[in-house]
This record gives sequence, structure tokens and C-alpha cells, in this order.
Amino acid sequence: MNRREFIKGTLAISAASFFSPTILIDGGNRAMAKENLSWWQKKSVYQIYPKSFLDTTGSGTGDLRGVIKKLDYIASLGVGAIWLTPFFPSPMVDNGYDISNYTDIDPRFGTMADFEELVAQADKRGIKIVVDLVFNHSSDKNQWFLESKSSKTNPKADWYIWRDEKTNWRSIFGGSAWEFCEERGQYYLHTFATAQPDLNWENPEVRQALYDAANFWLDKGAGGFRIDAIVYIKKPSEFKDGIVDSEDGLSSIHNITAACDGILDYLREFKEKVFVGRDIFTVAEANGVKPENLSEWVGKTGVFDMLFEFSHVNIMFNRGVEIWHRARLYKLSEWKKALSESQIATANSWYPIYFENHDRPRSVNTFFPSGSDKKLAAKALATILFTLRGTPFIYQGEELGFENAKFNSIDDYDDISTRGNYDLARADGLSDKQAMKFVHRFSRDNARTPMQWDSSKNAGFTSGKAWLPVHDDFKACNVEIQEKNPDSVLNFYRKLSALRNSSEVLISGEYEELYPENEELYIFTRTLGDKKLMTIVNFTTHEVKMPITGGKKIIGNYSDEKNYLRPTEAIIYEF
Ligand code: GLC
Repeated sequence: MNRREFIKGTLAISAASFFSPTILIDGGNRAMAKENLSWWQKKSVYQIYPKSFLDTTGSGTGDLRGVIKKLDYIASLGVGAIWLTPFFPSPMVDNGYDISNYTDIDPRFGTMADFEELVAQADKRGIKIVVDLVFNHSSDKNQWFLESKSSKTNPKADWYIWRDEKTNWRSIFGGSAWEFCEERGQYYLHTFATAQPDLNWENPEVRQALYDAANFWLDKGAGGFRIDAIVYIKKPSEFKDGIVDSEDGLSSIHNITAACDGILDYLREFKEKVFVGRDIFTVAEANGVKPENLSEWVGKTGVFDMLFEFSHVNIMFNRGVEIWHRARLYKLSEWKKALSESQIATANSWYPIYFENHDRPRSVNTFFPSGSDKKLAAKALATILFTLRGTPFIYQGEELGFENAKFNSIDDYDDISTRGNYDLARADGLSDKQAMKFVHRFSRDNARTPMQWDSSKNAGFTSGKAWLPVHDDFKACNVEIQEKNPDSVLNFYRKLSALRNSSEVLISGEYEELYPENEELYIFTRTLGDKKLMTIVNFTTHEVKMPITGGKKIIGNYSDEKNYLRPTEAIIYEF
């Protein structure tokens, strides 16, 4: 059946004035045969923030043995890999993204033997361990930096970015991106926190040291890498002031350094020295790479297998600069367009589908209107997550429909970026109350509260004092309760994951969006040969007319079926 016949045969526009005319985004998608796909394309990935997953020692901080203990739970989600956020030695200024030794384990998380056991135990369940490489910057307590800052002439003197003069760049976590170092009498550059000095990728010794660290983890059995903040490794050829964008007189470093010309030369070398010839996958975090440039970054012609680009999660921010109190309202059609553009741009490569991670607020609070039923919303987002084309990434707690946390005072927040954004809002004239509204909406701590395993003290996460308070809904929302409820978000995730893992059309089929201008529904199809599935999701809190006829419902977040869509309803149809 070709596309035109399909539209004639199965789609009926029920009310011309209600729905925009059918406009199909022509993706030019090419279906890929399932047998040609790699293991990481056929299964999902589960992301773990070890600090908040499960504490086996009573320290209040999760650890690697906690991950080992829950491998059967993770396997029950049908995933093929676990992405672990950093577990390396770290002063924890940015919860592990400030690394003081790239080839060891922080004692808070366990030992190298624990890591090796985790790799082996996961392997028995068909699950690979994916390591997070934080190569744009290290910790200021890293031996490399301690040496570099000690003089202008030591062997590591230009392993970091030193200047006599500073520019007006604002770091991503707030304040100047330059810090004066008395010892050396110069400023060093830090894209993120003061304690996260940027490494100098111009220096071939630095690059080699980083490649060696990556290869170390591959030799330990890592199945792939998530590569942190990679767009910032190349700086512009000239260091000039940027345009002031806030009352603090500074200019966001993101606008100045993200994806600078020449970055791909480094990345091609990185690929050559580390990834080539290994049965692994790479997914790089790349805020600022436009969908139209994706082909240079991913797939056979690119450097990574997948790229976490930010267009759909940062839809509320201009140019990807996360100044929270400047968040804007956006239309559903804009959000759908961001997803469709990424789907189209990766039609011949691959895409990591995600709505949550340790940096984002919980998706049920972000992408659905405030009055929506949160469990239905969690299932609706899951329906999209498992039916877009690409590898679904599930972030711990997302599979239970976790909601944002809400702490009373800015002092209750641990996350460094939350404090930076709060300060910027205050500097721009907002009251504490106004600034806290944005903290509640966007703080990264929203998604970092401990995993909720059961209804016991601290949700079964720790026998000690949790490093970040457990969400106060844990008695109603936890793994133990959801295991027992066939209708839970957790069991819905399991069903969808099993469906995707066994469905050629969901793994390989072409993506096509229908009714892109509709501001209430997201509708898209996946097609492989004569098989077609359609996902339809109602993003409103009211009933909406069903714009399609025909098709057999195979799963949905309401058990029965009507000839209209109920609030937050999501359905997958088979044609
Ligand atoms: C990435 C990480 C984030 C971290 C930042 C600096 O964006 O995901 O958690 O704070 O890089 O390393």
C-alpha cells in the first residue's frame, strides 16, 4: 500500500475546520533491515544516577553494589544497556562531573572489583555497561590541573586554558567563566563550575591522555560511552567579548563556544583512536548541534552513533541557553516539529529518544499541561518514547512516572546549576518567590531524588540519611506497589518495551508525522513494507475528536476504546 492509498483508505479528516489539512512531513526515511542493525539499536537503554539509585552501605549515597542488586529489576524492563553517570573519584562539586582521576572508582561508589562484577553480572543478563566520559573539563583537584596551575613552565602548563586577560563570558552554572589563579598569576577558563577547569584539546598530549582513559574502560568491558558536553571542547580562534544578555553584564559561553568550527577534526581523531573496530555504541551530549548538521556528527559519515541534541527538551529556551526565568510558552506544534526534524535528520543514521535524564525536570511535569493526570501522562510519553525511531533511553524513575520534587528554600537544593540560575534570576530583579517558581519547574534536583523502591523508611533507598530528600510521594509511588498493579506505569513500560523489542516495524520502520499543525494531538506512523503502526496522543485535558478511522488498537493508556480521545489518551494502532 503506498502512502496516498493509506491516507485515502484509513484516514478521514473528521472536521475540516477542527483539524488542519493533512500535511505530511516528507522524511525521505529509509527503512533499515533489522538484521543489519547493531545490538544497541534493537534494545533500550536505562540510565542510572548511581548516587540516587540504591545505597547498600547506609552512607546515604547509592553505590555500584546497589546497581548489581537491582540488575534483575533493570533486566525486567527489556533493556540492552545501562548508562551509568560518573562514578570516578570526584570532589562532587557537580556530583561526579568533576573528575579527579579518570581511571578509578570513587570509594563512595565502591571499588574496581565492584565495577568488574557489575560488568560480568550485567553481561549474564544481556546488558552492557555504558560509561560517561567527561572530557571537556576535569576537576580542579585532578593531578593534571594541580600540576598545570603550579607554574607557566611545568610540563602540563598548557593542559588547560590559561589567559592573562578575561572576557565577559558567563559560565553555564552562572558567574564569570574565568577564575583567577594566584599561584600562576593567570585566569583559567571553566565552561561549567569554577571547580571544573576546561581541558585544552589543542594540546595533542591532552587528547592522547583522554583517549587512553577511554580505552582503559573499554578494556574493563564497557559496552559504550555517553560523552559529556562534547560541543564545548573546541574554543573559537579568537577570545572576544560576547553580547551581554543579562543584568549581570555577562554573555552566555554557550552562544560563543558551542560546536565551534574545527571541532569535528578532533572528534574524527577521537573516533579513530578509541571507537573504531569496537562493538560499542557512542552517544554524545550536544546542545547546539542543529538537526540539519546531524549527518556530520552521527552515523557512518559522522563521528558518533547517536547524539543527544536538545531541540525538544529545550524548546522553552531561546538558542538553548537555559536561563530559567526567561522560559517562554511554546506550542505543541513546535515541540512536534523539533522531534520530527530530528527523526528526519537521522533517517539514515540513528537517534537516542529521550525525555528525561539527570539534568532535566521530570517529563510528566514538563510536557503535559498542569491539570493532566500524571500517570496517564507518564504512559503517554512512554508510548512516544517506544514508538519513535531510535533507541529509547529511560531515566531511573521515569518508568514509575516520577514527578518533580519541590523543596521550600534555595538552601535545600544541592545542584550547583540550580543555585546559579536562582542567583541570575535574583540579579535580574526577581523576588525569592518568583525565582523559586522557576527552581521548582527546572531544577536538576527534580530528577535526582532517590529511587523509590518500597514504602519503608527512605523508600528503601538507604538505611542512613539520604543525601537528597526522598520525594514525599514515595508511599504511593514506588517499585513494590507498581510491581503488584498490572495497570501501573511500570508494567506499561514493560509491555511497551517488549512490544518494541519484538516489532520490526517499531525498530526499523520509517517515521512520518501526520497533522503537524494540530495543537492538540501528536500523530505519527512507522512503516515497514506493508506493515504500519500509528501512535496518537492527546496532549490536552479535554476530549478531542478522533481524526482517523480504521486500525486496530494494540495498546493504550485507557483500557477500553471510544471513538474520540479522552484527556491525555495515548493509543498505538496497527493497520
Ligand atoms: C553535562 C552533564 C551535567 C553536568 C555538565 C558538566 O551536561 O549531563 O550533569 O553538570 O555536563 O559536566
